[in-house]
Formats: sequence, C-alpha cells, structure tokens
Amino acid sequence: MLRRPRRNRQSAAIRSMVEETTLSVNDFIYPMFVMEGNNLTSEVKSMPNIFRYSLDKLLEEITVVQDLGICSIALFPLLSEDKKDKYATESHRQGSLYLESIYQIKNKFPEIALMTDVAMDPYSSDGHDGYVDEKGNILNDETLQILGNMALAQARAGADIIGPSDMMDGRVGYLREMLDDEGFTNVSIMAYTAKYASAFYGPFRDALDSAPKFGDKKTYQMNPANSREALIEAELDYAEGADFLMVKPALAYLDIIKSLNDNFNIPIAAYNVSGEYAMVKAAAQNGWLDGTRTMIESLTSIKRAGAKVILTYFAKEFASL
Ligand code: PBG
Repeated sequence: MLRRPRRNRQSAAIRSMVEETTLSVNDFIYPMFVMEGNNLTSEVKSMPNIFRYSLDKLLEEITVVQDLGICSIALFPLLSEDKKDKYATESHRQGSLYLESIYQIKNKFPEIALMTDVAMDPYSSDGHDGYVDEKGNILNDETLQILGNMALAQARAGADIIGPSDMMDGRVGYLREMLDDEGFTNVSIMAYTAKYASAFYGPFRDALDSAPKFGDKKTYQMNPANSREALIEAELDYAEGADFLMVKPALAYLDIIKSLNDNFNIPIAAYNVSGEYAMVKAAAQNGWLDGTRTMIESLTSIKRAGAKVILTYFAKEFASL
C-alpha cells in the first residue's frame, strides 16, 4: 500500500496541519431579539440560553458579546399585537422600538456591523412577510413599497447591512435603487436569496410571536425540494446588486450553499436557523448528544460547504469556548 490516508491523521499536530476548514468568531453574525419595556429579559422557551431583551438590557448584552470578540449582530423585534396592522406601519414609524434600537446600538457600538431585517411579518396583523389582500393573496409589488420605506428608515437609523428576508420578487433591486437615491450607497444588502418554506423556523416564530395567522408561506418562500430554482434566485439577486447571497436554513441545504458558492463570486452566507439550534440543545439537554461537539461539527460543515458568513444562535457559545 503506497497510499495510506491514515498517515495524515496520526497526531494532533499533523491533523491540524492538514485541516481544511477552521472556524473563527469573525465568521459569525449573532441574531438577537429586542422587545418593549425596561430592565426585561425573557428566555425563548424553545431556544435555551437565547433571550429577548428590552433595549437597555440589549445594550448591556452587546457589551458582553463584543468583549467575546463578536463583531456582527442581526436584530429582530418582538411587537405587541396592538402595534401590528395590515400595512406594517410600525416598521417605518419614527421613534419605533426597532428604529430606536438601531440608532442606540450604532451610537454606543460604532464598530459593530449591524444587520437589520426587512420583511413585514413582525409588524403584520396577518403574520405574513408581504401585504395580504381581501382574498388572502400576498401582493408582490404593493409589498415592495412597504419594504422600501422600512429599509430606508433602517438605513437612516444607522443600519450597516439590510437583510431582506421576505422573498418578494425584485426586492433587492428595488431596495438598492431606493437606498442609492437617498445617498445610502454604502449600506450593504445581504439577500435572503434561497429562503425555503421550512419547518425549522418554528422556535423563531415563537420568539417573535410572528407565525402566519392563516395559511403558510409557500407562495413566496422556496419549495425544499428544489435546487435549480435557487440558482435563478441567485442570478436575480446578484444582478440586482446584492452584496451577499444567503441560504436559509443551513444544515438541510448544504448542497445549495455549495452550488451558490461554486457559481457566484460574492460571499455566501448561511442562516443556521432557530430549529437547528433547538434540535441540538434539546438533544444535549437530554444527554443524547455532546452539545459542544455537535455545535462545532455543524458549524464546520456549513463553512466547509462554502458559507463565508454564518448567522447562528451559537455565536456567543462558540466565542465563549
Ligand atoms: C421572517 C424571518 C423568519 C426568520 C428570519 N426572518 C421566519 C419566517 O420566515 O417565518 C427565521 C429565523 C430562524 O428561524 O432562526 N421574515
């Protein structure tokens, strides 16, 4: 036997020398949740160790997270039901919780890269990412205007990266043009390019109380059975000016991450979503899996598949190791 692959695995020194994929805190964006009130933290039941914070507490937590070396966060708002309406008006109201949070975070932590979410669901009385007409259809082009106002308000408040997670057609180009027209040429767009209609978002919708009030999201989010369609979405988002292409969820879609990374030369991001986090945590709490090793193996596989950037609820735990 001339070729013995085990020689390259014989010691820790040699194994680390030939290791192809390494993780660093620089790879991660840490998703965080903000809610109304003062001096409040509340744990998301299905996501152990992940909390919703009132803004004062959130700012304290970002200090902790930044000290651990994390330099990027993604922010999502939890709204009370009385703030929601059909037009997601609260999403671009001056002085709203979300816009105020963006402003205060960037004011206190100018070095943090702050990613904001553009979609109607946290603000919509229908719980959908787009505008719903009387017949229950989600209207694409009407939604774009609302998303545009939302993105612009976020950019004005100080957002560094706009993350359209809505899956409406044409939204990347629409937002890019609107941002450029208003002078925000340096605000990036991380497009949720291949966002699948997934069961793995369950814990997130619990966290934000944002589940659809009727139906599902299958007319705008992608069918989990399709991969070639992800390339069409990627071509559009690339042509419309996206700075990053994201795949979501991550672990059940590693082939999609690889396909986008093979075909596009801008950074690929992957969202290791709430359900993926919850599965590992639940098994670890039962003593059925080694939580730390499973976390590292999962994150490594996402990076190995081709994701340069990983949005993950594990970011803080990884950074603490
Ligand atoms: C909605 C949005 C969702 C997530 C991020 N933005 C849920 C959905 O589409 O219903 C999910 C994130 C996660 O599960 O961690 N615009």
